[in-house]
Amino acid sequence: MKQKHEEVMELARRRGFIWPSFEIYGGVSGFYDFGPLGAIMKNKIIQKWREFYVVGEGFFEIDSPTITPEEVLRASGHVDHFVDAMVECQKCGEAFKVTDLAREQTGKYIEGAPKEEMEEFIKKNKMRCLECGGELGKVFDFNAMFRTAIGPGNKRVGYLRPETAQGIFIDFKRLQRHARGKLPFGVVQIGKGYRNEISPRQGIIRLREFTMAEAEVFFDPEDQHHPKFSEMAGEQLRLWLAKDQEKDDKKLTEVIVEQAVKRGLVCNELMAYYLGFTKRFLLELGIPGAAIRFREQTSGQRAHYSKETWDAEVLTERFGWVEIAGIAYRTDYDLSRHAKFSKEDLTIFSGGKKVLCHVVEPSYGIDRPFYCTLEHSYVPEGKRKYLRLKKWLAPITVGVFPLLNRDGMPEKALDVHKSLRSKGFMTEYDDAGSIGRRYARADEIGTPYCVTVDHQTLEDGTVTIRNRDTAAQVRVTLAELPRILHSVICEEAQFESVGKPVKE
Ligand code: GLY
Repeated sequence: MKQKHEEVMELARRRGFIWPSFEIYGGVSGFYDFGPLGAIMKNKIIQKWREFYVVGEGFFEIDSPTITPEEVLRASGHVDHFVDAMVECQKCGEAFKVTDLAREQTGKYIEGAPKEEMEEFIKKNKMRCLECGGELGKVFDFNAMFRTAIGPGNKRVGYLRPETAQGIFIDFKRLQRHARGKLPFGVVQIGKGYRNEISPRQGIIRLREFTMAEAEVFFDPEDQHHPKFSEMAGEQLRLWLAKDQEKDDKKLTEVIVEQAVKRGLVCNELMAYYLGFTKRFLLELGIPGAAIRFREQTSGQRAHYSKETWDAEVLTERFGWVEIAGIAYRTDYDLSRHAKFSKEDLTIFSGGKKVLCHVVEPSYGIDRPFYCTLEHSYVPEGKRKYLRLKKWLAPITVGVFPLLNRDGMPEKALDVHKSLRSKGFMTEYDDAGSIGRRYARADEIGTPYCVTVDHQTLEDGTVTIRNRDTAAQVRVTLAELPRILHSVICEEAQFESVGKPVKE
């Protein structure tokens, strides 16, 4: 039997969600294109993220360059610390990221271990080259940033940004004026990030160019509570604590957000709030709660700027637990480093005193939740295979079909399609093949509703709407169609109650 992952990826390629980039030249691993349906769905995920962070939290959004001069990334620590431990096969020369290879061959996380320990680990676990089985050589550091030159020649070194966050820190002086010195305040940036992965083998899970959505929340370190904490206090979290990972104990700790702070499991209210907030975002995408956990990074695993980091992870069939977001307590690391390197004063005057802000950062990749959402929405029901996407997330919201290709039905259906599009519905007209096949094609890409024009439409101006998940149909008037579609898509009305049931 084909694995779910393979079936989902086959569907994704065939129907235009995602496919490997540069395909006609043989492809390059670590790069994926979003096709016509994938691009719509990805933008919807981004828009939902904005609804959470920009609309819901009131954070400001900025958009800064992806090419960053070297001095910025020296100050941020990326030139020295943004490195991956790498090893090469002695026989065929293939390169591997040591931590990925260790996870693949032993299931263990060895992130942050010193190089000698990694070499010891490789020996002890008899790890070999994945390509030819050859022996592996010495472990060494590889800087994962893409280097470039700004302007002609090599006078000015630049890098493709490894995170969008630095654009926010650099603009801090202007941004705090925009916030009028009121703390806490948050700034987000959504855009491409780059990481020159050593030899990515996990398709869309490990990309060299990917879309990030990051929020930097600036606060007074003497006041670490979140103004809306009470709204999040009761949210249930499933935590895999660093101390349990260090003992090789798979135990998860179930706790509500409030208790996570009270018991000292999460360092402050802001961090715990954004763990809960991230869980709510993932649920909104359609990831089931049982497939979400938060893994605390051990001290060796954390990035150079972080005092505490929690990875939001989603369980997938093919890749196991996949990191979707990281919530990091970056302290004043970035602002103090940029103040030192730029010689600008980055303190602010707030609450009657000078403050060097601390930062909590919820940082998301968008491509991974995109894949996880596809996998978790995929329903193989015998021969019927479809995506049970959340209605708001489906790239096409309404299919419009003529029952038959005659008697004026195609013309009428095209009118309906055009009229719904003019009202903002993402519709797709389809008149190819039997009506059953058209429903199946629409289900396969997750289209929640299909409208069919039939003989009765021509007589009394009514159409049928079919529900993807139940295959049930109701009959409604064309005059009411837009309002009814809107109410079922927004889940304001129950499908069965919006029209006359159609008997099979
Ligand atoms: N800004 C978080 C990261 O680069 O992973």
